[in-house]
Amino acid sequence: MKLLVKNGTVVTEKGEIKADLLVENGKIAKIASKIEENCKAIDASGKHVLAGLIDMHVHLREPGFEGKEDIESGSKAAVKGGVTQVCCMPNTNPVCDNAVVASYIKHRAQEVNLCKIHPIGAITKGQQGESLPDIGKMKAAGVVALSDDGKSVDNSLIMRLAMEYAADFGLRCLCHCEDKSLVDGGVVNEGYNSTLTGLKGSPRAAEDIMIARDIALSESLGIPVHICHVSTYSGVEIIRNAKARGVKVTAETCPHYFILTDDIITGYDTDTKVNPPVREEKDKNAIIAGLKDGTLDCIVTDHAPHSLKDKQVEYNLAAFGISGIETSFALSYTYLVKSGVMSLCELMDRMSSSPAKILGLEGGVIEEGAPADLVIADFAEKYVIDPAKFLSKGKNTPFKGFEVYGAIKYTLVDGAIKYKA
Ligand code: DOR
Ligand code: ZN
Ligand code: ZN
Repeated sequence: MKLLVKNGTVVTEKGEIKADLLVENGKIAKIASKIEENCKAIDASGKHVLAGLIDMHVHLREPGFEGKEDIESGSKAAVKGGVTQVCCMPNTNPVCDNAVVASYIKHRAQEVNLCKIHPIGAITKGQQGESLPDIGKMKAAGVVALSDDGKSVDNSLIMRLAMEYAADFGLRCLCHCEDKSLVDGGVVNEGYNSTLTGLKGSPRAAEDIMIARDIALSESLGIPVHICHVSTYSGVEIIRNAKARGVKVTAETCPHYFILTDDIITGYDTDTKVNPPVREEKDKNAIIAGLKDGTLDCIVTDHAPHSLKDKQVEYNLAAFGISGIETSFALSYTYLVKSGVMSLCELMDRMSSSPAKILGLEGGVIEEGAPADLVIADFAEKYVIDPAKFLSKGKNTPFKGFEVYGAIKYTLVDGAIKYKA
């Protein structure tokens, strides 16, 4: 099977080139200025050809919470968003803390056959923070990392043991950093706007303490660790300092943390409720600077779809989370590249090659011999984000009505067209 992508601007790690790209047997066979082949062709004139995005922090909700999302709806949403590989968090029901659930997810992903899906196993049994699951069996079943996302592992000894065992199996712990005692029921960032709205605030320190703890464990053990969804300026600083000392820490953030501030909570729209909460201008600016200088290695969505009944309740009772997988690329392009913060190559590093490197996944690059996981995007096309058009079951986005650039026209996985606008 051959497919030719003609006349596009191909974004490689070395830069942008006007070129044709030949796909053969699921791989990128050739990149050259003019390729003549008698096969099916896509005309990418005026468009960019990018490596498929890799989103290493996604909640697909299956098994157990299929009312919010399932592997099929999540996969459809992913490829619409230009995402060709997804790592899904284990806070399902049952929790993905064993080989059976991990295998089930992989099996369903194959049946759905849209994007590549890699399960993440729980750090502790049932995400209860008390004992370790059978990490070796989960690894054999295909988990690519461990996380108790949704909460921190409160007990530092358990966390230390988990990091040691995970490292033995070549797995990294992805740490949701939250000191529950300090959050104390907070639902938004603690600051002027929490006082103004009367909504209970959660301080930066609740996140920073756990970032610092997990970095301390990583440093003392010499074991890599990954910090999830960084939202505070002070967290960025802790990570930057640790990296400067040579600590093997990597970190991610999400579009809502580099685009929004907590001014948006004043309308009490529960789609703005997310954990950790969106914070203030200085946090937003520090996150942008951290992404630019590589302190924050990658952009993920923390795609957290919820049903209407979970969100159409008073703010304090609403579920935390943003449905983000269909808007992540256009928002990131608009707010980071079009605004002049970083180059397209840098954005592709944060959204594709860097996650691949962190987790040791294939792909994330456009080069001959690599899997043909590709996106064709039109950067000139402007559109307005409308959750009614989402393929995800989760319509919960604080970005409704935002004008963005960067429409995904095609998504290819292993050379097969999985989405066409
Ligand atoms: O906002 C969030 N939603 N943060 C998390 O840590 C978990 C996630 C979810 O699972 O809904
Ligand atoms: Zn989390
Ligand atoms: Zn999450």
